[in-house]
Amino acid sequence: MATKEEIVKIGYNKIAQDYQANRGVHDDRKELEEFVRLLPKNAKVLDVGCGGGVPVTKFLVESGFDVTGVDFSESMLGLAGRNVPEARFIKKDITELDFKNNSFDGLTACESIIHVPREKHSLLFKSFHRLIKPNGAMLITIGNSDWEGTEEFLGARMFWSHYRPEKSLQMIKDAGFKIVFDKQIVRGEEKYYWVLAKNEKGSKAS
Ligand SMILES: C[S@@+](CC[C@H](N)C(=O)[O-])C[C@H]1O[C@@H](n2cnc3c(N)ncnc32)[C@H](O)[C@@H]1O
Repeated sequence: MATKEEIVKIGYNKIAQDYQANRGVHDDRKELEEFVRLLPKNAKVLDVGCGGGVPVTKFLVESGFDVTGVDFSESMLGLAGRNVPEARFIKKDITELDFKNNSFDGLTACESIIHVPREKHSLLFKSFHRLIKPNGAMLITIGNSDWEGTEEFLGARMFWSHYRPEKSLQMIKDAGFKIVFDKQIVRGEEKYYWVLAKNEKGSKAS
């Protein structure tokens, strides 16, 4: 039987083209601009669960940043490489990020954390904190509710796993981040819960 992670990987390998075609309808520019404003010129940014690279990885490259995208779906990475040739892409499970401490000024994780089994979210936020330099920032989306399950998505089986925002926000703070904003944004039929947070002066996780 496929593990939760395999369901996600197999699913995105199957629906990569369709997902990317639908992804274009959501404009995340406002949130991305707020993130970009917090970072130095030429910042090094990690895009976690980068998918097909549009719009997020592409926006970061166009902002003048040195961008690395990480994803475990070969099909999504194939699209990303074609869509954003200026970025570097690495095939990797995002729960196994083994870059050196303080490797990045910023980190994005848009619509990817919600596919990681939620018992791993606390450790995931701690790994993000370890990777981001003091005064660096992260822009992520988290779940809107307490829910874990498998449903059909664009013709594939897909797995999601998340906590209600209050619980995720507490885990983010416990990992050492200071929240800049957190807000639910409704776009069409989709609800996104965005969090912009800073690693203030390298604050230690509790
Ligand atoms: C909903 S898509 C979002 C893609 C992109 N961030 C965007 O905003 O369009 C989720 C992506 O996260 C990747 N992903 C989910 N869980 C992952 C994991 N454990 N390791 C690596 N990639 C993962 C999937 O392969 C998929 O490409």
